[in-house]
Amino acid sequence: MGIIKIPVARPELNGNELKYVVRCVKDNWISSIGSFVQKFENEFADFCGTKYAVSAFNGTVALHLALVSLEIGKGDEVIVPDLTFVATANTVSYTGAKPVFVDIDKRTWCIDTEKIEKKITRRTKAIIPVHLYGHPANMERILDIARKHKLYVIEDAAEAHGAEVKFEIRPPAGGSELRIKKVGSIGDVGCFSFYGNKIITTGEGGMIVTNSKKAASAARFLRNQAMLEKRKYFHPKVGFNYRMTNLQAAIGCAQLEKINIIISKKRQIAKTYEELLMNVKGITLPVEEEWAKNVYWMYTIVVGKEYGISSTGLARKLLAEGIETRPVFYPMHLLPDYKTKGDFKVSTTVARCGLTLPSGSTLKTSDIEYIVKLIKRFRG
Ligand SMILES: Cc1ncc(COP(=O)(O)O)c(C=O)c1O
Repeated sequence: MGIIKIPVARPELNGNELKYVVRCVKDNWISSIGSFVQKFENEFADFCGTKYAVSAFNGTVALHLALVSLEIGKGDEVIVPDLTFVATANTVSYTGAKPVFVDIDKRTWCIDTEKIEKKITRRTKAIIPVHLYGHPANMERILDIARKHKLYVIEDAAEAHGAEVKFEIRPPAGGSELRIKKVGSIGDVGCFSFYGNKIITTGEGGMIVTNSKKAASAARFLRNQAMLEKRKYFHPKVGFNYRMTNLQAAIGCAQLEKINIIISKKRQIAKTYEELLMNVKGITLPVEEEWAKNVYWMYTIVVGKEYGISSTGLARKLLAEGIETRPVFYPMHLLPDYKTKGDFKVSTTVARCGLTLPSGSTLKTSDIEYIVKLIKRFRG
């Protein structure tokens, strides 16, 4: 492998990150007690528009904590999209419940809401929509289904900080108004990741957001080894150490100061790719539905037959020029521990033909022009 000239993603750590981390070290607050943890939780809840935020060590444990806080466990089933990062399904398995996979929508690549109800049984307890690559799932429809079947909705917003859904509200007095909600704040609980390649990062890190006092308190309690606040070292349940450190939160606070700038840059990068790739035959571009704001976490294209070479062939050629790309996740139903038969046509195609192009917020327009020039040149 040659030298990577343009990576898929690179965090922007050029703000107050170092200053805040140094403050933790100088003040001696480097574990999970410290003022940055509280500040990050408060500010992230404000950003999402929720009452509560509970930080966690990473996005995977945030999802696990959310499931356990809602008392999902052995004997239960949870609906999960077939195309996602494996953590969504694994965290369901950690609880003893069974993830049940549903194919994805052709346009958004999020869970296909038309196929959810067929998978609901009397054991189903929750749906986990994943806002894949930064595009929101169809939350209006998911909330309808969840209400009808009395299911929890846990949003996996690990890849979609700041993405939005527009809801048309019809007040009893007549007319209609538009309400915009950020992902994570729409279902019962929302979970985020702050891994190094995410919209904002804390190195490793995660967060639960919710408007439910009960879910937030349960998550706080379980995160801290299920220790009673008023009775030190008494643990009425089996809990976890899923706490975020003050060092992580310090970086998170600095990252939050520029989250809107990062999102604008991501959207500009997507716009530039779209303008330049629009007419390349055989390449399908990501969409933005009119009810959604896509934050384009990772700009992912589908390389169809008409392009002439496969997505892996294109990835190889780009790598030879120093351009890093990323394949799409394996569909869950094809992984050994989750092997299932069923209708997964869309997820299978997107997984096989999808390719993530460099999309870090530090990417320059000239980099995008160069990448697209090569994509056009390599067309078979
Ligand atoms: C959709 C999705 N869910 C969950 C996670 C898990 O987050 P983490 O890597 O922080 O544990 C990720 C992270 O990559 C993700 O993309």
